[in-house]
Amino acid sequence: MKDKLNVALIFGGVSNEYEISCMSAANVYDILDRKKYDVFPIGITRQGRWYLTDATAEQIRADKWLDADNRVAFIPPDRSVRGIYVVGGKNIKIDVAFPVLHGKNGEDGAAAALLALAGIPQVTTTMTSAALCMDKALTKTVCKAAGIDQCGWETFYSRDLKTDIGAAADRAEARFDYPMFVKPSSAGSSVGVNKCSDRATLEAALLEAARHDFKVIVEEYVKGAEVEVAVIGNNVPHASVCGQIAPSREFYSYDSKYKDDNSELYIPAHINDDAALRVRQTAVAVYKATDCRGMARVDFFVTDDERVIFNEINTIPGFTNISMYPKLMAHSCVGGSELADRLIELALSEDRV
Ligand SMILES: Nc1ncnc2c1ncn2[C@@H]1O[C@H](COP(=O)(O)OP(=O)(O)O)[C@@H](O)[C@H]1O
Ligand SMILES: [Mg+2]
Repeated sequence: MKDKLNVALIFGGVSNEYEISCMSAANVYDILDRKKYDVFPIGITRQGRWYLTDATAEQIRADKWLDADNRVAFIPPDRSVRGIYVVGGKNIKIDVAFPVLHGKNGEDGAAAALLALAGIPQVTTTMTSAALCMDKALTKTVCKAAGIDQCGWETFYSRDLKTDIGAAADRAEARFDYPMFVKPSSAGSSVGVNKCSDRATLEAALLEAARHDFKVIVEEYVKGAEVEVAVIGNNVPHASVCGQIAPSREFYSYDSKYKDDNSELYIPAHINDDAALRVRQTAVAVYKATDCRGMARVDFFVTDDERVIFNEINTIPGFTNISMYPKLMAHSCVGGSELADRLIELALSEDRV
């Protein structure tokens, strides 16, 4: 009898976070213990083609996996396959899937939905909570109902922005002082996020965000430390220690995340014990309010007067070399291959339902 589990590692995808996904997946590929798992990496190209790939972690990290030996293959919703359908080859049964698909067409619930149809357990949250957490406006509405402290925000529809940008900017200005933050409701890695200091930058930012999503949010600017918590678990979630990001640029933009090495991470965060405890408790409250399963990274601002303000939650957090989720978990004693083991255990656990 085979004692190893077959794990499908799914990466890439039709998302503007494709490259980040490759970097994350390479690290997950490295930490999956080959004594316990036979790992089947499936790459999805930017255009949405699926391949079972023989690429090494290095090739995946550098987005060179298409140079490797690849076979056309995909996970069909048909439960008689319950795994990978290899075109012109033998199907592979999968015990558990590890989708590392950041952003659209993955983290937004699409991956969870496909795997649910296929009858394959998977390490990320459910379709419903993934979709909820991907949409910042919806997340805020649910968290408001749960009594979680957040900054002020306004929601706009891209259609309205395109027809009357002046009216939209008037509405934002009536509500908030400059600077304001503008972001697509559903995006990630700071794509389409802008800090605006005047009317001209506000209008430009609204239109830019409208190119990424049909919904756009404007937020009041929060001055505070950026603090992140890794949460793991199903019905009884655990919060890691707090980590802090000191961005190299004016805010934690895409470039400051991935294009330069000057952003600093502090673990534990440079906040006092009482604030850290409240951040961790709120992280669990957000996780529960959004019905998360498996894992999530929950992000906050902590102001000088120690207000803990929830910013956003990521249900497929980054696993890149600079990413907080695995670092925070390692500081909380679940590092490296143990983290992968724990996530797989949670995916297969009866406590999942
Ligand atoms: N309201 C805000 N006040 C101050 N800074 C903000 C605010 N919203 C976002 N930021 C900055 O922009 C970055 C990206 O915004 P975020 O909401 O985290 O979007 P993403 O999902 O793209 O990571 C944050 O890490 C932070 O540096
Ligand atoms: Mg963020």
